[in-house]
Amino acid sequence: MQVVETIAGFRHLLDGTRHDGGRVGLVPTMGYLHDGHASLMRRSVADGDAVTAVTIFVNPLQFAANEDLASYPRDLDRDLALCEAAGVGVVLAPPVEEMYPEPILTTVSVAEVSARMEGATRPTHFAGVATVVSKLFNIAGPCRAYFGEKDFQQLAVVTKMARDLNFPVEVVGCPIVREPDGLAMSSRNVYLDEHERRAATVLWAALQRGAAVIEAGERSPAAIVDALVATVGSEPRATLDYAELVDPATLAPCAEPLASGQEVRLLVAAQVGRPRLLDNLGVTVP
Ligand code: PAJ
Repeated sequence: MQVVETIAGFRHLLDGTRHDGGRVGLVPTMGYLHDGHASLMRRSVADGDAVTAVTIFVNPLQFAANEDLASYPRDLDRDLALCEAAGVGVVLAPPVEEMYPEPILTTVSVAEVSARMEGATRPTHFAGVATVVSKLFNIAGPCRAYFGEKDFQQLAVVTKMARDLNFPVEVVGCPIVREPDGLAMSSRNVYLDEHERRAATVLWAALQRGAAVIEAGERSPAAIVDALVATVGSEPRATLDYAELVDPATLAPCAEPLASGQEVRLLVAAQVGRPRLLDNLGVTVP
């Protein structure tokens, strides 16, 4: 596994792979890697990418002033060991000056898909994500790029951006990896104390409850969302940010009664202690 800190070095290695006829698999991350990240790397390897390339970069542009940029957890040595074990060929771990040598005046923003949910709570977040991901796509060159459904709205934003701007990148969404008790793996779970860690399972419980009421015949979007809100509300350590039932393609909230065979996505975000936690679940209406 080769570890590089420069854009030129990373590009050179991936150009070499493509020159030899191999496909590049790209896994953008902010580090402090866990099995959710590793699942994206393993997917790239399993899908036959000649080189799986991981980027580890805590992108300042996607953090608001009041957020956890300075304290975002980091452990490069451990991250590199995880990459190596997952079969990664190349890692780009650039310093901030390499990615942003001068103040950036060009940003990418994806309207509508970015507006609600995460975008409502974090108004500058998705422009920061879309801008750094467009830089990473231009740096990596033609590839398949793997993103987790854990950040379902981010996946939708990146997918739409790649289509709108003709990036030579195929965006691949991958399933959420969970702890044994259902909590979605996240680098920020490390902020949870022992009580909060137990309370954090309420997000998964709410999604399962939402899926169960649909399964039981409920077709009213408002009633399904009420079930999510009530479940999160039953946990005193959790403060709900949003609970949504949306069309998975457009992220528009379901307004009409659900129809048989329809694909929907349930999403919740809640503050539990210090971190804001996110989770979501896809359901096919029976
Ligand atoms: P980060 O939070 O490090 O996540 C990197 C990738 O791992 C994202 O695609 C995310 O959805 C995926 N991921 C995280 N937890 C997961 C889980 N439990 N199961 C499956 N996939 C999971 O998302 C970012 O970084 C940044 O916004 C980034 C795209 C790198 C731009 O800076």
